[in-house]
Amino acid sequence: METKFFVHESSYVDEGVSIGDGTKIWHFCHIQKGAKIGKNCTLGQNVNVSQNVVIGDNCKIQNNVSVYEGVELEDGVFCGPSCVFTNDLTPRAEFPKGTAGYKKTLIKRGASIGANATIVCGHTIGEYAMVAAGAVVTKDVPDYSLVAGVPGSVIGKVDKKGDLIKMI
Ligand SMILES: CC(C)(COP(=O)(O)OP(=O)(O)OC[C@H]1O[C@@H](n2cnc3c(N)ncnc32)[C@H](O)[C@@H]1OP(=O)(O)O)[C@@H](O)C(=O)NCCC(=O)NCCS
Repeated sequence: METKFFVHESSYVDEGVSIGDGTKIWHFCHIQKGAKIGKNCTLGQNVNVSQNVVIGDNCKIQNNVSVYEGVELEDGVFCGPSCVFTNDLTPRAEFPKGTAGYKKTLIKRGASIGANATIVCGHTIGEYAMVAAGAVVTKDVPDYSLVAGVPGSVIGKVDKKGDLIKMI
């Protein structure tokens, strides 16, 4: 069957992966077993999608992002370069929790995560919310909110296109 997506020859796609039409996976990526990536997504260089992760349509994932198990991206999510997801709130090398111990993270439709931001697991980033570069998200982020700082706090409201409409 003709594939309607693109995977650069330097990338690995494990078995049982589903990739939607029009999606482009660039250099040095690894898409792990059971992951589902929607239509018209772009994955930049050195992106890892862990097993069973679900990514919606029209997402853009910039260079050096690992989307770990327990993280879900709805449609139209933007992940800035080197942003960081997590899935174990209190990790220990000697006492791994396994999948059952992961805390889920949901990035809702149209949300954007700035470069180098960190999303502590167990939180939801609302629709069309914007996470500033370098922020550390430690709480749920309401829809259309702009969050910045360490720890992240809501500093404004943004519209669907990402323009600032109000500073708080
Ligand atoms: C948060 C952001 C959207 C604000 O942009 P802006 O509307 O032009 O805002 P301004 O630069 O006028 O800054 C407004 C205030 O927020 C602060 N601020 C801006 N960016 C910030 C950040 N990343 N973290 C903390 N504070 C920030 C500014 O210092 C300023 O504070 P002040 O009023 O006390 O001086 C932008 O700075 C940002 O981080 N964008 C993400 C860029 C990115 O990562 N892109 C990835 C693809 S390349």
